[in-house]
Amino acid sequence: MGVKTDRKMNILLGITGGIAAYKCAELVRLMKKEGFQVKVVMTRNATRFITPLTMAVLSENRVYINLFSTEEEEQQEIRHISLAQWADMVVIAPASANTISKLAHGVADDLLTSTILAFEGEVIIVPAMNKVMVNNSVYKDNALYLLQKGYNFIKSERGSLACGDFGEGRMAEPAYILKFINNRITQASSLSNKKILITASATREPIDRVRFISNYSTGKMGFALAETAKRRGAEVILITGPTFLADIAGIETIRVNTAAEMREEVFSRFKKADVFISAAAVSDFRPAEQFDGKIKKEERETLTLELKKNADILKEAGEEKVNQVLVGFAAEASQLKENGLSKLRSKNLDFIVVNDITREDSGFGVDTNKVSIINRKEEIVDLPLMTKYEVAEYLCGILVSYFEQQSKGLTV
Ligand SMILES: Cc1cc2nc3c(=O)[nH]c(=O)nc-3n(C[C@H](O)[C@H](O)[C@H](O)COP(=O)(O)O)c2cc1C
Repeated sequence: MGVKTDRKMNILLGITGGIAAYKCAELVRLMKKEGFQVKVVMTRNATRFITPLTMAVLSENRVYINLFSTEEEEQQEIRHISLAQWADMVVIAPASANTISKLAHGVADDLLTSTILAFEGEVIIVPAMNKVMVNNSVYKDNALYLLQKGYNFIKSERGSLACGDFGEGRMAEPAYILKFINNRITQASSLSNKKILITASATREPIDRVRFISNYSTGKMGFALAETAKRRGAEVILITGPTFLADIAGIETIRVNTAAEMREEVFSRFKKADVFISAAAVSDFRPAEQFDGKIKKEERETLTLELKKNADILKEAGEEKVNQVLVGFAAEASQLKENGLSKLRSKNLDFIVVNDITREDSGFGVDTNKVSIINRKEEIVDLPLMTKYEVAEYLCGILVSYFEQQSKGLTV
């Protein structure tokens, strides 16, 4: 999901059925003042809270409500596709619990949800609802799922609610939403002109033609990093071991099996990279010899495998490094910081991200991660449990600051 910044942006504002819809008048006014082109899609229920006429006048565009064109309208137009192609960014404000839940399940039964499903760019969801609804576990699961899929949320605020209650659930103020949008646009070019090489997932070291040694890494962290860096304007090359994750549009993705293949692909590109992020869990060992065909269980009672050490790609990168920024990931089960620090030093890294693989909600396979990031000055930041996209965002932010400092001659 990325934002185009080559011209003043086209923002599609989705309005759903909630009292906070009245704040959209101000939001559209601010967007127009900023110079954005704005088109508004309203759900049927949203039209009960604010009139399409108000939104049409303020956005200086017609307002879209129906998925299907009426007879008088242009019949050839496939509205949800043309709107998705027109938009650079979609903002849903207020986003009802209903629409958020539909999005989480891929339901596309109205113009807004159909358009979002057909949209490849950045979606910003601004929820607003009653305090009990916002804490409902079904709603929370749906919102978390979308967050893990790379959708952005502007958290609702605490305050007095339209229903008379006091608590969490108030929609963020229009000025704050606009600030958030502008931040995203600034971020969209924050890593432009940077070439970032990323490895992801596990490698597979063959024992025979059907069996291999591997580990539980799925590639989720590396893919989240690749997508986030691309969204910030970087040219990303992703070298991944086997994974169920699909290629990301606009990212050159090279799929490999073994550590040796990964090493070859990395070093044929390393010299030209500005950053190398090693998020893959590369097998440390491989079988010393690969059996031809399939080892037959009928022919033996025991099987002893001799393992040979694989090359350490990251360590080699640390030796070859000229100007590249090197970021390593370390999956640790104990003495996280000590082990992380010793890897940072011995591999000549600029940053190491240590993840705690003893927690069920962190490390391999899951959508969340609990990490600490250590830099060359041995400063440590302990991050709370975050989605892998949030960790990726944080890490990209660190890279942006690093390059800013570097341009001022301030990096070590
Ligand atoms: C007066 C009133 C206020 C409502 N406010 C909200 C709200 O703030 N947030 C919310 O999620 N749902 C709210 N609802 C419920 C939604 O309108 C309802 O779930 C509806 O199905 C949403 O449809 P939509 O997502 O297609 O717009 C409200 C309903 C009423 C009658």
